[in-house]
Amino acid sequence: MRELIVTGLSAKYGLAVALTDVSLAVRTGETVGLLGRNGAGKTTLLKSIINNPELSASGEVTVDGTSLRKVPTYRVARRGVAWVPDNRRIFTALSVEENLHIARSRRAAPDQLERVLASVPLVEKLLKRRGFELSGGEQQAVTIARALMSAPDFLLLDEPTEGLSPLIVEQLQESIARLPALFDLGILVTEQNFRFVTALADRVHILETGSAVWTGTPDELVARPDLINRHLSVGEK
Ligand SMILES: Nc1ncnc2c1ncn2[C@@H]1O[C@H](COP(=O)(O)OP(=O)(O)OP(=O)(O)O)[C@@H](O)[C@H]1O
Ligand SMILES: [Mg+2]
Repeated sequence: MRELIVTGLSAKYGLAVALTDVSLAVRTGETVGLLGRNGAGKTTLLKSIINNPELSASGEVTVDGTSLRKVPTYRVARRGVAWVPDNRRIFTALSVEENLHIARSRRAAPDQLERVLASVPLVEKLLKRRGFELSGGEQQAVTIARALMSAPDFLLLDEPTEGLSPLIVEQLQESIARLPALFDLGILVTEQNFRFVTALADRVHILETGSAVWTGTPDELVARPDLINRHLSVGEK
C-alpha cells in the first residue's frame, strides 16, 4: 500500500488566499471525494498537490513519506501522481491513440495500453479519432485513459462529471469505480455532484471558502441533508 498525505496545505494566488490548512490522506486501493461549491478551493487543492506554478502553497504533501513540495509540476507524474484537469486539455489536433502514446511513462507496463483500453471501455473505439471530434464524455474518458498511461499510484480527478449528461455520468462512474482495484491506485476526486462522489468514495471531505469543514463516510453524508443543501448540488443534471 502507498499513501499520499496532505498536511496543513494552504495556498494563495498572489495575495488572494484560496486554501487554508487542509489535511487529508489517500491510500492506494481507495477513493477520496472532495466536495464543495464553486470557488470552494477544490481545484486549488489539486493544483497545490502538484505544485502548479499559478499559486504559492505552504504545508506538506508526501508520497510514502517523501515530500513532493519541491518537485516541479512536470515531474510529479514520475512520482506516481497524475492530474486530470477539469478542462480536459487533450491535444485536439492529435488522434486519441497519439494522445495516449505521448502520455506513456517509463513506469508503464509493456501491456499498459491494453490494460487501459480494457478498463475504460469507450476509448478503444475512439483510437483513430482526432481530439476535436470527441464529445465531452468521450474527452473525459480519453483524459482518464491518458492519465492511466503514466501508471500512476494516485489519480487526481477534477470535476469529471462537469457538463456531462446523466447517462454518460453513469458510465463514467462505472469505469472510475473499477480503477483502484484494477490498477492498485488511489483516487482523489473533486465534484459538485454529490451523488457521483457518494457512490464512489470511501471518505468525503467538504471544502468551504478554502477550508475543510466536514469529513466523513458517504453514508454519514447522506444522513446529513443540512450539509448537502448548504455545500452541494444534488447532481440531478
Ligand atoms: N488563477 C487564479 N487566480 C486568482 N484567483 C484564483 C485563480 N484560480 C482560482 N482562484 C480563486 O481561488 C478560489 C478557489 O477557486 P477554485 O478554482 O479552487 O475553486 P473550485 O472549488 O475548484 O470551484 P469550481 O467548482 O468552480 O471549479 C476562488 O475564490 C477563485 O476565485
Ligand atoms: Mg474547480
